[in-house]
Amino acid sequence: MIKAMKIKRLWSMLLATAMAFSIAVPTLATDDTGYNDVKATDWYASATKYMKDAGLMTGMDGGFNADGPFTRAQLATVLYRMAGSPTVIGEDSFSDTSPDAWYASAVTWAEQNNVVNGEYGKYNPENPTTQEQLVTMLWRDAGRPESAGTLREDTSEYAREAVRWASAEGILKTNAGYTFTPKAAASRAQIAVIVTQYLQLKNSGKSPVTTEKKALVVYFSAADNDGIDAVSSATVVAHEGKEYGAAQLAAKFVGDHTGADVSAIVTEQSYPAEYNAMADMAKAQRDNDERPALSSKIENLADYDTVFMAYPVWWYTVPMPIYSLLDEYDFSGKTIIPVITHEGSGDGGTLSVLRAEEPGATVLEDAFVSRFGAVPAQKADVESWLDGLAEYWK
Ligand SMILES: Cc1cc2nc3c(=O)[nH]c(=O)nc-3n(C[C@H](O)[C@H](O)[C@H](O)COP(=O)(O)O)c2cc1C
Repeated sequence: MIKAMKIKRLWSMLLATAMAFSIAVPTLATDDTGYNDVKATDWYASATKYMKDAGLMTGMDGGFNADGPFTRAQLATVLYRMAGSPTVIGEDSFSDTSPDAWYASAVTWAEQNNVVNGEYGKYNPENPTTQEQLVTMLWRDAGRPESAGTLREDTSEYAREAVRWASAEGILKTNAGYTFTPKAAASRAQIAVIVTQYLQLKNSGKSPVTTEKKALVVYFSAADNDGIDAVSSATVVAHEGKEYGAAQLAAKFVGDHTGADVSAIVTEQSYPAEYNAMADMAKAQRDNDERPALSSKIENLADYDTVFMAYPVWWYTVPMPIYSLLDEYDFSGKTIIPVITHEGSGDGGTLSVLRAEEPGATVLEDAFVSRFGAVPAQKADVESWLDGLAEYWK
């Protein structure tokens, strides 16, 4: 009898626990989504969680607002966060954005990285993002891969390649009845799902998405240009028993660590080896705003995303052969990372020279700047500086 009572009590306890659980489960699941207005069973629930965990879309006041609109400024911000929110130099060129706006860095970054073009000089930051605009920005972010997927006829001309790629890669596939409608505004839920599917594709490593950056090192150094071998030059430095020009050695450190191709800038007419004579010739070239002819060539500049540009400060500015280089080649769309050697002038204000000469390029503020005599001891410093800039060359 006592035994039977005990078993009965045990059963009722188990039942109560089970009931508590069956009531608790849906609540727990809702909490699990991270939002008070997203149920675990919603077709976008895993995407909103993914975006939240990645810090890309966070909602407001505890809610996600799945059907709400998403502006073009907000999308630029998501893309910028996906890139790790790098430091941005300069301003965008759009007539309807403000450099003080909360989205300024994101839109500037997106324009500088050719992820957004705008229309007729405007970005329309407050306009809703259309579904084809979203896909186009992701496709540009992916490096504009080619693809032959399917396409809805009402896709705008500019978005067609992007939509073909997105449909072939499964980025538009959703797990519950929403139809991709190119010109319709994308809801917040659609943004979350499509961006998540893009990121999962990118992280899977299986896709043709190209995110690798190709880097080149170009350098100008007295050592390659003084008409005799570097041993006689007044500005040589030694490294592992060999002599180099300081800018040449800094370029070598960059090339060795990044695996980037290294290309010397050499003038047709060499400079005298004797320091004062070299200084006089360089000064005359600067005073006459000369562009000394180059005998060196850069092969396939179009293949490179990033160009490390190493040079000494000469007469408080870049050596004139650097002007020749910037005249001869177009660095638009590329990131230029300066590597500068000097004897007291620091960067010599040369970043502004590069920016003025190459307005279509991004010249990173985070240059490597060193007194020329210190370069041999700075291999490790160059390497850790490069590791901080890995997104530009890996
Ligand atoms: C023609 C000439 C002009 C120079 N002008 C400057 C200068 O204005 N400011 C400065 O800090 N160093 C100046 N220097 C020192 C160079 O920056 C230094 O020699 C250079 O960084 C060494 O690199 P390299 O051997 O690769 O050429 C000048 C050197 C030369 C040869």
